[in-house]
Amino acid sequence: MQYGYFDDQRREFVITRPDTPYPWINYLGSEDFFSLVSCTSGGYSFYKDARLLRLTRYRYNNVPTDAGGHYFYINDGGCVWNPGWQPVKTPLDRYECRVGMGYMSISSEKNGLKARQTVLVPRGKTAEVTRLELENASDAPKQVSVYSFVEFCLWDAQDDSTNFQRNYALAEFEFENGGAVQYHKSEYRERRNHYAVYAVNTDIDGFDTDRETFVGLYNGFDRPNAVFEDQPRCSQAHGWAPIGSHCIRRTLQPGERVSFIFVLGYCENPEDKKFIAPGVINKEPAHQLLSSFQTDAQFEAAMNELKTYWDGLLGRFTVQSGNDKLDRQVNIWNQYQCMVTFNMSRSASYFESGIGRGMGFRDCSQDLLGFVHLIPERARQRILDIASTQFPDGSAYHQYQPLTKRGNMAVGSGFNDDPLWLIYGVNAYIKETGDFGILDEMVDFDNDPSLAQPLLEHLRRSFRYIAEHKGPHGLPLIGRADWNDCLNLNCFSEHPGESFQTTGPSEGPVAESVFIAGMYVGVADDYADLLERKGDKAEADFVRAEKKAMTGAVEQFGWDGEWFLRAYDAYSHKVGSCENEEGKIYIEPQGMCVMAGIGLDNGMAQKAMNATEKYLLFQYGVVLLWPAYSKYHLELGEISSYPQGFKENGSVFCHNNPWIMIAQTKLGHGDKAFDLYTRIAPAWVEDQKLHRVEPYVYAQTVNGKEAPLPGEARNSWLTGTAAWNFTAISQDILGIKPALDGLQIDPCLPASLPEIRVHRTFRDHDYNILIHNNAGGEKGKIRLEVNGKALEGQIVPAASGKGETMVEAWID
Ligand code: GLC
Ligand code: GLC
Repeated sequence: MQYGYFDDQRREFVITRPDTPYPWINYLGSEDFFSLVSCTSGGYSFYKDARLLRLTRYRYNNVPTDAGGHYFYINDGGCVWNPGWQPVKTPLDRYECRVGMGYMSISSEKNGLKARQTVLVPRGKTAEVTRLELENASDAPKQVSVYSFVEFCLWDAQDDSTNFQRNYALAEFEFENGGAVQYHKSEYRERRNHYAVYAVNTDIDGFDTDRETFVGLYNGFDRPNAVFEDQPRCSQAHGWAPIGSHCIRRTLQPGERVSFIFVLGYCENPEDKKFIAPGVINKEPAHQLLSSFQTDAQFEAAMNELKTYWDGLLGRFTVQSGNDKLDRQVNIWNQYQCMVTFNMSRSASYFESGIGRGMGFRDCSQDLLGFVHLIPERARQRILDIASTQFPDGSAYHQYQPLTKRGNMAVGSGFNDDPLWLIYGVNAYIKETGDFGILDEMVDFDNDPSLAQPLLEHLRRSFRYIAEHKGPHGLPLIGRADWNDCLNLNCFSEHPGESFQTTGPSEGPVAESVFIAGMYVGVADDYADLLERKGDKAEADFVRAEKKAMTGAVEQFGWDGEWFLRAYDAYSHKVGSCENEEGKIYIEPQGMCVMAGIGLDNGMAQKAMNATEKYLLFQYGVVLLWPAYSKYHLELGEISSYPQGFKENGSVFCHNNPWIMIAQTKLGHGDKAFDLYTRIAPAWVEDQKLHRVEPYVYAQTVNGKEAPLPGEARNSWLTGTAAWNFTAISQDILGIKPALDGLQIDPCLPASLPEIRVHRTFRDHDYNILIHNNAGGEKGKIRLEVNGKALEGQIVPAASGKGETMVEAWID
């Protein structure tokens, strides 16, 4: 069953019916103001922080699902409908939703009236702007009423959904232009210096700001009284539930078209300029904002600016491979999703409520791998923000708040993989930019300026933290968990409601992680190179010696005979071993250890990949472990709390699949790497109904082979899957790898790609790379020419300044 298709020319996914198998959404905004918008007009907006500065309400966990949104109701001679179908759900004569780069455009038609609703967050503005176009396509005049609708949130989304005794008494408004401009100013009188404005660029025929008056106390959003009776109440909310709504009545002659521009904005005033008279708010910032969206031409200019912005971003890496799916995946949707993970981390999606988790130390560090080539300057700042939350001993807060940029004590520290991800992120940044200067930046520890040290010192403490926290087998201690948040070997949680990560001893002296060992080995050479460039030979030698010792420890104690072990638990028993009844083999150490190069010289790596294929690979990718746990293991923690085949307990946890792709390329298996790529990439999703979530972005998890419905996905959008897949395809399969001194060309292609062209902007210079793959599906020997001249080695030296370099490669 299909619900839509890709339109690559316009970089859009076109949804052809509104009743998708789950709400399919898009993200608007790229700086400070963001909206989540579903294909039926559900969703919400916030400024900077989805928990603390939420403009509009949304109801997670509701029936029907996707309740709350920025709606338009049309009353056309008694027939009430929404261009986005929801919430009234009147059957439409036509419906199409175009999901674009930072915008959404829904076109629909009912009884000869056409509507098109296009929404974006314009560059440089703190507002969501929607243009609603109506056209009378019938041959008789029509009298039409339009009702807009948003429901305001009282800013703190957590408090808004729990603290009703206070909140029902708060709402306050001011109005201009007869209600066409509505100011939601709850709490502005005291500690807030910001308000929301909701406005339309035309004269109106009425408005409402009190929800129960507009909707009717016992009605749902699908039956608002004001709309069905075609009678706005001009209600002014005093407390209770504040909304914004305009009523616009027009008579449209046959063929006549009208358009209205709605702005939902966030405005802020300096403390001393909050009021212009007692109780009267300073509307200057709102006036400025609204003046930018009075005409169609202004709206179109904002759309064009957005398009230019995305042309620029997506122009930095493009491939022409002869395979449409691959091109669309790489050139459009994967990079788009990488930007969304940069903006959101794991905070706000239709699965992340925006009030639970902040920015993850490891999540943000990994996301960087996917977006650093798009926005290197912002990646730089992100690294400095992340590093400032590190503890002086090298460990890290697991999460920090996006608004305050401070570590979050509720989750605390002790996830022992965290420190190493910082080195991965910084390394990726320096390879992309050549900016060694970042290593000298003074960066706080624990957000305390008196503890500031150069960034390089942060990396040193990260690496040393692992060096100093090893267990009985010389492998790294796992702490509360490593990458797998649900493998909680020291927690022993027995009571509902406890945190699996932070209850109990949490940080034991014995439980060890083979996965962290792989990470440690994997980052060592790159990190030692950085140290050498900074003149610290002694530390570089230490790092290389550690790498050697850790490789030895993995080969001796981390090898199970056919694959890499996952861990040792708090009793020093093996986890992820053939000796275990369930959870015999895990994906993470197979991927991470082989990526790190462990076992490439002695057959272990190849064996690990063979076992991965034999026990973990199936139609929809590589599952996290096998067999999935059928009972709760106190000594393993949350992983065994999920039913078999879900989440960490044996789903295809997409984030770690690219590690296997990269591992396969280390062994030279281009066909195998690419085969796995196509099993999880959204562009290859065939059954959209089974897949359920958006078929244009990666989901965190796809039900595994032991789940009741294998192939069904959930937790779309905010996942490290985006960054790692972009890394795997762009650097390891297509083989364009940023290196300290230039671009390394090192493809490992499948036989199905005999010739590819890549355009890569690298340090402001354009590289046009043509690769002839005569080696088939196994990696061959590469020969390179740069601007027509043979090149020794595989690194095309970084050119200085703008310009174009032609690279041609032959793989035999
Ligand atoms: C979630 C977390 C990530 C973790 C993964 C595996 O995606 O955001 O940090 O590594 O789950 O547990
Ligand atoms: C749960 C999820 C895991 C996620 C973690 C974050 O454990 O299963 O994927 O990383 O929560 O706190």
